Amino acid sequence: HLLEPFSVHIDFESGLLSPDPVVLVRRLSSLAGYFLQNADTDSEVYSVHEIRVPAERDHLLSSTTIVLPGKVGDEYYMTKGHFHANRDRSEIYLTLSGEGLLVMALENGTTVTKEMRPGVVNYVPGHWAHRSVNTGSEPLVFYAVYIGDAGYDYATIAERGFPVVVVDRDGGPSVVPNPRYLA
Ligand code: 6PG
Ligand code: NI
Repeated sequence: HLLEPFSVHIDFESGLLSPDPVVLVRRLSSLAGYFLQNADTDSEVYSVHEIRVPAERDHLLSSTTIVLPGKVGDEYYMTKGHFHANRDRSEIYLTLSGEGLLVMALENGTTVTKEMRPGVVNYVPGHWAHRSVNTGSEPLVFYAVYIGDAGYDYATIAERGFPVVVVDRDGGPSVVPNPRYLA
């Protein structure tokens, strides 16, 4: 697929792109069942701003994600999290602003958690489900680059959850076992 070269500007503070991203907004209503407690509002939790290229093996897809600060109960706002549909496809995250935790898990339950803060690159190898959690008081903004045909498997996480959850304990983030995880 032969494309014309192009450029996009990212505002590192806000994560907004120009020109013309594809924007997806996730509100609490579209995250029902993802948090341990039920939410009583329909606030926005995060948005994804994707640079348009064909979702094919010979392209690199990329996007910014803006996870707003907030909690449901004591659980910090986070993305749904997913495996890639093509499980072996890897991904790179570069945090632009804010702070958070990147939770990664294998199907067998092995879990690794890494800090996200401005300037940090997190490498997400294939086969690791990934979820970003905003543990700060400002938006968590990161830029992700992934192989064009990675695709999304949300169903596995929707059914089983992640092995751990990130909760506010005494004013700071704590990574604890998920009581609802289906091993
Ligand atoms: C991807 C990236 C990333 C992710 C967003 C939202 O594969 O596209 O991991 O862009 O999709 O941060 O997270 P969810 O896709 O889990 O909702
Ligand atoms: Ni991904």
